[in-house]
Amino acid sequence: MDVQKMMVVGAGQMGSGIAQVCAMAGYDVFLHDLKQEYVDRGLATITKNLTRQVEKGRMTEEEKESILNRITPSLDLNNARNIDLVIEAVVENMEVKTSIFSQLDEIAPEHAILATNTSSLPITEIAAATKRPEKVIGMHFMNPVPVMKLVEIIRGLATADEVYQTIEDITRKLNKVPVEVNDFPGFVSNRILMPMINEAIYALYEGVATKEAIDEVMKLGMNHPMGPLTLADFIGLDTCLYIMETLHEGFGDDKYRPCPLLRKYVKAGWLGRKTGRGFYTYE
Ligand code: CAA
Repeated sequence: MDVQKMMVVGAGQMGSGIAQVCAMAGYDVFLHDLKQEYVDRGLATITKNLTRQVEKGRMTEEEKESILNRITPSLDLNNARNIDLVIEAVVENMEVKTSIFSQLDEIAPEHAILATNTSSLPITEIAAATKRPEKVIGMHFMNPVPVMKLVEIIRGLATADEVYQTIEDITRKLNKVPVEVNDFPGFVSNRILMPMINEAIYALYEGVATKEAIDEVMKLGMNHPMGPLTLADFIGLDTCLYIMETLHEGFGDDKYRPCPLLRKYVKAGWLGRKTGRGFYTYE
């Protein structure tokens, strides 16, 4: 299937990164969000990232401008009426996602693929909100999107082979590595990553070591680029909690029980880097 025109729904950290790599690969992309300020913030992040590439001599100013010109801001979901692929990257909330998918199903052309960047919600359930479940698929990028190589591609129960193949080909064109997984809570990435982060929070909660010591052990001892508590702040503690709850509910196994300290931080509004405070404080 030939994909030329895309729309990324959600201009936050993930959505803006996805729009950036799609435009860099030569696709025309609408960057859609509810408010102008959200889209502006997303575009500002993309501009900053591309400017750094120019400064490092990896891209010319002209290339930067043509990438930016391929991204069109959008505040109207009806812009999806001419696109071939939508990648949704809004909040991790099933009601919000199913509402967007059922609207997109009405607006987007019949051939269009509807992908979701969900980090743990069932693709099959999101697909059921549409009349084209065979064209719904998970396309899970990692944060920061411009840097991380992996895209987990998740088949829903009804996803067509042709749709899977198209998404795998596009992922390669984005200079990423596709890995196929099935539709289980947390897929592979978060089924393994989040319990590790949750365990690190338990270690802090139970007084096994300081936050710095826990991070240092995992950084230097396991060669992780970031310690698990730093990584939790980077991902967002609300997102970590949400994913743990999805795993806990999805598997019904107490080994996925979110640590009470994680709940407490989220209740306090200490969500990590994005709010200036999580396990660490940020300027
Ligand atoms: N956006 C764009 N580029 C970024 C960036 C960002 N937010 N953060 C860092 N970079 C770039 C830097 O510009 C730099 O690029 P150059 O080498 O081309 O100059 C490069 O990444 C390395 O950055 P730094 O030297 O500043 O720092 P670093 O070596 O510590 O790398 C990191 C930063 C890539 C974020 C690294 O710490 C890392 O890999 N951390 C772990 C990230 C991770 O695990 N991500 C997965 C999270 S889980 C997830 O996303 C799934 C989910 O569903 C929750």
